[in-house]
Amino acid sequence: MYHNLCMKHNRWWRDCVGYVIYPQAYLDSNDDGIGDLRGIESKLDYLRDLGINLIWLGPIFKSPMEDNGYDVSDYLSIAPEYGTMDDLKHLIDRAHELGIKIILDLPLAATSDEHPWFQMAIKDPDSAERGYYFFRKGKLKDGELVPPNNWASFNSIPAWTKVPDSDEYYLHIFAEKQPDLNWSNPAVRKSMADVALFYLNLGADGFRIDAMAHLSKDMSFSDSNLPDHGNGFVLDTDKFSNRPEVGEYLKEFSDALNVDHDPCLIGEAGGGITPENAARLASIENGPVSMIFNFDTVWNNGAFGSIDKKDEEIKTDLVLLKSNFQRWYEKCHGVADMPLYWCDHDHPRVLSQYGSEKYRNESAKCLLTTLLFLYGTPFIYYGDEIGMSNVTYDKPEDFFSDSATRTDVAYLRSKGYGDEQITHYLNRCSRVNSRTPMQWDRGENAGFSKKGSVNKVNGNYLQGINIYDQMRDPWSILNFYQYAIWKRRDALLNDAVINGTLEFLDFYNPDVFAYRHVGASCELIVVSNFTEKEVDFPFYHAIGEVILQNYDNVYLRDHTFHLRPFESFLLRIRNDE
Ligand code: GLC
Ligand code: CA
Repeated sequence: MYHNLCMKHNRWWRDCVGYVIYPQAYLDSNDDGIGDLRGIESKLDYLRDLGINLIWLGPIFKSPMEDNGYDVSDYLSIAPEYGTMDDLKHLIDRAHELGIKIILDLPLAATSDEHPWFQMAIKDPDSAERGYYFFRKGKLKDGELVPPNNWASFNSIPAWTKVPDSDEYYLHIFAEKQPDLNWSNPAVRKSMADVALFYLNLGADGFRIDAMAHLSKDMSFSDSNLPDHGNGFVLDTDKFSNRPEVGEYLKEFSDALNVDHDPCLIGEAGGGITPENAARLASIENGPVSMIFNFDTVWNNGAFGSIDKKDEEIKTDLVLLKSNFQRWYEKCHGVADMPLYWCDHDHPRVLSQYGSEKYRNESAKCLLTTLLFLYGTPFIYYGDEIGMSNVTYDKPEDFFSDSATRTDVAYLRSKGYGDEQITHYLNRCSRVNSRTPMQWDRGENAGFSKKGSVNKVNGNYLQGINIYDQMRDPWSILNFYQYAIWKRRDALLNDAVINGTLEFLDFYNPDVFAYRHVGASCELIVVSNFTEKEVDFPFYHAIGEVILQNYDNVYLRDHTFHLRPFESFLLRIRNDE
């Protein structure tokens, strides 16, 4: 009988509420200033109580940490600062005892330049490892050696770095210390499938396939025809994003894994993947991956690259946000599973983007309610459950743990921006905002570590934004999260959310995000005011039950909701009339 290896076994992730842990910043068990696996293990009970049953663990492999672990120098060793292979095994086993699955972040599009493969490739041009990467001869221009083509990397420099004492360059679409792997080479694909199998055999439940969109490059390496950025180079993501071969590579990869396992494989797809393409890759029937993370619903407030903007100009474009969720839903529902998230370690905190620090409590709850009941598997970013927000650091150097931010700062300074303006911008946009220590209590460093931390702790942990205080406050964001997550996991509600149809209500309303699910045995409506003002919202449905609310009463009169700032409801609708 023909056995389609791509066939997913039971799509267990549809019953999950996920949680994202950035290992460096979660909890430091040995007070060396760096979060670690034992720290995470000691908080599994907390996560179980919160209702989490799936963890996406940021990269934990051995790495020089140029890109905080996304630059791996040995895939089969754990970074010593995070612990040992035994610690990982313990963590996974303990999580499983508590009913929590763990997926590992696997950066497989590039390695560190300190990986032995790359070291060998540089040392011996005739080695097999040379073919693991992209080496190309430079071009002569006016008697000078220049990179093989005009591609820029995401870090805004040429995407090529010259090999010392040679006329060849290697390709890196991110930092110089992250040479890209050549996935057209079968030996690379086999090595990566072996790495993945090793961790599945250890007990991992799947992977976040980091930078999945970039697994394939335009192998003609022809120049981009887009206008350059003034320095002769151009970031033309089409040259290395979402190219057709990505699907073939992933199929081979997932076929190798699916023989003996049932992993959840979540592709991270930047570079403007279309919902159509994602629905193919994550197709329930024969797609190689389980779900695709897309970026269409982040930055819908004009904050990206907003150095020249005033604070007042940063405003959530709610119709755009709704249309992005709708587009993805329409292409994926019934055809492919989808993850849901507001932000991750690559973006500033959602509370400071779409929410409001002034209405922290209300907006944190509103954001959760709105996301949690959309179609897909929700992923909560660590710290969002207590309303963690962006930092207020004093100078650009405070953000320098992140190489991408360092590159940005160098660029902005070269353009003449002063440090005050740059700092203001970074406090709004740097991804370091979401990499500060988890705020556990009112102790030193918010209870994260006695030693300190890679990124400075956000001082607001002393104003109640910590787990300890919020556990003791019945109206806290944390207690709301716990209640809401358990509701989301209720089988009846989950069925309506995953299998029911989704329809946006009053779609063009610029202030209110409202939608309805009609499930087989239950009808749900979410109504969320995404503004700091009071707004009226017409409502003609019969409320059976108010399941979630973030104010203590409901003003519904004459078929109109009088919504207060960031007021939000999850309602069960009576359909017995
Ligand atoms: C992924 C990661 C990001 C990293 C990049 C390059 O996009 O999420 O943090 O910088 O890959 O490795
Ligand atoms: Ca530590």
